[in-house]
Amino acid sequence: MKKLIVANWKMNPQSLLEAKKLFNSIKNRIKKNSALLKKTEIIICPPFVYLAPLSKLLQPTTYNLQPKLGAQDLFWAKMGAFTGEISPMMLKNLGVEYVIVGHSERRHILKETDEMIAKKLEAAIKNKLKPILCIGETEKERKSGKTFQVLKNQLKKALKSTSNVKLQTSNLIIAYEPVWAIGTGNPCKPEDAKEVLIFLKKLTQPSILYGGSVNSQNAKDYIEVGFDGLLVGGASLNHKEFIKIIKNSL
Ligand code: PGA
Repeated sequence: MKKLIVANWKMNPQSLLEAKKLFNSIKNRIKKNSALLKKTEIIICPPFVYLAPLSKLLQPTTYNLQPKLGAQDLFWAKMGAFTGEISPMMLKNLGVEYVIVGHSERRHILKETDEMIAKKLEAAIKNKLKPILCIGETEKERKSGKTFQVLKNQLKKALKSTSNVKLQTSNLIIAYEPVWAIGTGNPCKPEDAKEVLIFLKKLTQPSILYGGSVNSQNAKDYIEVGFDGLLVGGASLNHKEFIKIIKNSL
């Protein structure tokens, strides 16, 4: 199965010009080295406002030789009075294939609850977007030995509304992102991440990614312990570093 390498640009870069430059650099490097795409699926998740212009840079004729687009979030309702929100169909209509759901920055900074995440996950699955569900423990939870319990709970609550089990597992991707490892330069040790991976694989079938301070040096360690791919934040904003991450994950 192909490894999934996901770039989460978060709230970067600050102009469309920079976003296009970064996207084109990644796209062109991939095109020149098509072997990269035989073994990996590369997914770029820019801020919402760049999705439409970036989708125009993709050519339908060379679909298999290009990165795919993902959104960083979505709203659960179909349409209506939800100021500031983006519906699943709006994303679908732009050619977006993937969507990150329940990122820890949304859980912790924007106070997104498990109930909201469950609704978003259900909406993504119903609209045939491939959700990348993020779960992860805080430093305090890890130190008090609650990691497995927290992850199990997050998973259980997120999947609550998706009653059809086949639907749940078909397109769902899980990203294990320990909160304390995100954006800190302090990644989870691969052997510790492997313990979590084994635990999660017992609970659920989907592909499982690792995220949290991934860079070109440590990327292959997570693939070697068995993760199905990586969710990359900061390091995905530098196209050379991101391409190295992809190459090192092969
Ligand atoms: P990071 O972010 O790679 O900058 O730690 C990962 C993420 O938040 O998805």
